[in-house]
Amino acid sequence: MTVTNTSLNILVAGGAGYIGSVTTASLIEAGHNVTVIDNFSSGHSDAIHPDARYIQADIADSSAVDKICSQGIDFAMHFAAFIEVGISVREPSLFYDNNLVKSISLINKLAEHGVKGMVFSSTAAVYGYPEFVPLTEKARLAPINPYGQSKMMVETILKDFDRAYGFKFVSLRYFNAGGAHGFYGEDHDPESHLIPLIFRAIDTGIPLKVFGDDYDTVDGSCIRDYIHVRDLAQAHMCAVSYMLNGGSSDIFNLGTGTGYSVLEVIHTVERVTGREVPYEITERRPGDSPELVASPAKAHDVLNWKKDLSSLDDIVFSAWEWKQRFPHGYEK
Ligand SMILES: NC(=O)c1ccc[n+]([C@@H]2O[C@H](COP(=O)([O-])OP(=O)(O)OC[C@H]3O[C@@H](n4cnc5c(N)ncnc54)[C@H](O)[C@@H]3O)[C@@H](O)[C@H]2O)c1
Repeated sequence: MTVTNTSLNILVAGGAGYIGSVTTASLIEAGHNVTVIDNFSSGHSDAIHPDARYIQADIADSSAVDKICSQGIDFAMHFAAFIEVGISVREPSLFYDNNLVKSISLINKLAEHGVKGMVFSSTAAVYGYPEFVPLTEKARLAPINPYGQSKMMVETILKDFDRAYGFKFVSLRYFNAGGAHGFYGEDHDPESHLIPLIFRAIDTGIPLKVFGDDYDTVDGSCIRDYIHVRDLAQAHMCAVSYMLNGGSSDIFNLGTGTGYSVLEVIHTVERVTGREVPYEITERRPGDSPELVASPAKAHDVLNWKKDLSSLDDIVFSAWEWKQRFPHGYEK
C-alpha cells in the first residue's frame, strides 16, 4: 500500500479514545506530527501517545480549534463521537448534538482554515438491516437508530461541503473494531463490544449473554466482521495519501470480508487465552441483524489498503495482551 513519506501535521479529534489513540500512535510511529483534541467525555489521558500535542477541549470550541489550526494543520481525522447505540435510542438529542451539530462546527472551522481534508469515522450502522452481504458501499442506507442516523447525516454534510467549498473528505465505514496496539486498547464505559465483554465474563464468572441462537447462520448466533484496530489506523493513513495524491472525496467500507459468529468468537477466545468463557443463550435482541459483513474491495482497489493483522486470532491475542497489561483499564 502507498502511504505518504511526507511528514504531515495531523489533527486527531477524539485521540484519547480507543481507535483515535491507536491511530495517533501509528501516525507518530510513521513520522507525522499529531495534535489531539479531546474533551475526555469518554477518553483517557493515558491513552494519548506522549509525543502527541494535546488540547483538552470540545470539538465545538471554536477558539481551541482556531488555535490548533493557526499553527498549521494539513489533515484532520475525526473520531470524536458518542458511540453507544442503546443510549442513542434513549437520548437522541445528546447524539444529534454531539455527533452532528458539533461535527458541523468542527468541519466549518477546518474548511475556514484551509485544512486539506478530513478522514471521518463512519460506521456499518448506516446500513441498518443489510439488503445483501457482503455489503458494498452501494447498499441502501437505512440506519435504524440515532447513532447510525447521525453518522449518515455527517456524510451528507461532507458531500455538500465538498461541492460548495471544495473541502475534501474520506469517510470510512468501520465494521467491528477489535484488538490493541501496545499501550493503547479498548476501555469503554459502558462497554458494548463483544471481545471486551467476553473478557469480562472470564474475569467475573458472570455469563456473557448471547442474544439468540436461532438465526439463519452457521450456528444460529449473529455474524459480524471484526477488523484489527491497527489495520483501521493504517487505512486512515492510506486515506490521507489518497487525498494528497488528488483523490476525490469518497466513502469506503472497512472490514475484512469474513464474518464470525458470536459463538465462533467465544471459542476463539477460549483457544487463544486458554480460559473457559461462561455464557448463556438468551432471547434475540431487537435491532440485531443476523449478519453484517463488509466488502472491502473498494478500499483495496481505490485506497490501496489491505488488512495485515485482521485474523480473528491476531485480534483476540492483542486484545488479551492489552488486558493483561491493564487488567482494569486505564487510570484504575
Ligand atoms: N469501536 C468501533 O467498533 C466502531 C465501529 C464503527 C464506528 N466507530 C466510530 O469510530 C469513532 C471512534 O470510536 P471509539 O470506539 O474509539 O470511541 P471512543 O468513545 O473510545 O472515542 C471517542 C473519543 O472522542 C471523544 N469525544 C467525544 N465527543 C467529543 C467532543 N464533542 N469533543 C471532543 N472530544 C469528544 C471522547 O472523549 C473519546 O476520547 C467514533 O466516531 C465511532 O462512532 C467505532
